[in-house]
Amino acid sequence: MKKDLISIQSLSRRELIDIFNLTAKIKNTPSKFAYTLKRKVLALIFQKPSCRTRVSFEVGMYQLGGSSLYLGPDQIKLGQRESIGDIARTLSRYVDGIVLRTFAHKNILQMAEYASIPVINALTDLLHPCQALADIYTIKEKFVNLKRVTLAFIGDGNNVCHSLLYACSKMGMNIRIATPERYSPRESIVRQARAFARDSGSKVYLFNEPKRAIEAADVVYTDVWTSMGQEGETRARRNYFKGFQINKKLLSLAKGKCLVMHCLPAHRGEEITDDVIDSSDSIVFDQAENRLHVQKAILIQLLRR
Ligand code: CP
Ligand code: NVA
Repeated sequence: MKKDLISIQSLSRRELIDIFNLTAKIKNTPSKFAYTLKRKVLALIFQKPSCRTRVSFEVGMYQLGGSSLYLGPDQIKLGQRESIGDIARTLSRYVDGIVLRTFAHKNILQMAEYASIPVINALTDLLHPCQALADIYTIKEKFVNLKRVTLAFIGDGNNVCHSLLYACSKMGMNIRIATPERYSPRESIVRQARAFARDSGSKVYLFNEPKRAIEAADVVYTDVWTSMGQEGETRARRNYFKGFQINKKLLSLAKGKCLVMHCLPAHRGEEITDDVIDSSDSIVFDQAENRLHVQKAILIQLLRR
């Protein structure tokens, strides 16, 4: 049976630990994995722009001895020129795995349903699992014991927030989320995360004041207020998110030193100030680097036969 990576929701804590253990081996001794995916080919279908995700998957595949094909928005015109199901079945005859960045989450579910090869979620409007896996790995590198860590997510209850909810609650990390009321994370995801948190011994808190989220935090995380595809709402969102900016004043409300995270790209001066993202407490480029190592582990687990 082929395996996909669509959501962290369906990964067990054991599977997450296996991914992190393999990531550490790959990061420490990359040359040992130089031929692990020899002759394997990965198709990267992107309907939205990308720097980190595209480059880290392409470089990762190359470093594992395989290769990749980038299929951008104007190339296959997924769902327009032909159906997702027909693309899935066609690509399954040529390549060994599909990475998809798309809008509606149902698109990736459909791709996975029709493809006979592994499908990896490279971001949908709902979830960004590869990001959250790299983020948790990065936090683990800094703190070792995740069970003692509290992460505050301040901003939009978006795709990154949803995947962090799953990842933190499965790994036993506390997560405190502050969003404007109308931009809260999806209720069903919060409910599932609370159930995972009960099992792992952690807590999920939702607030509408950034101060409440940050006061108990070891790590503060933010993401853009306007995600890809929401550009028409930029002005309205700037208004609703006033007061949610990660700046020195907000950071001073944390109980002590707090690491700063952002998945990038950042809208500097909007959700985060230059002095914070460029400070010595910021680990945003460690997160970006770890996308490469974590995704190599995911590729090995899904594509190696
Ligand atoms: N964080 C992230 O996914 O970046 P890109 O949009 O540049 O891929
Ligand atoms: N929430 C952002 C994440 C980008 C990596 C977006 O979807 O645009």
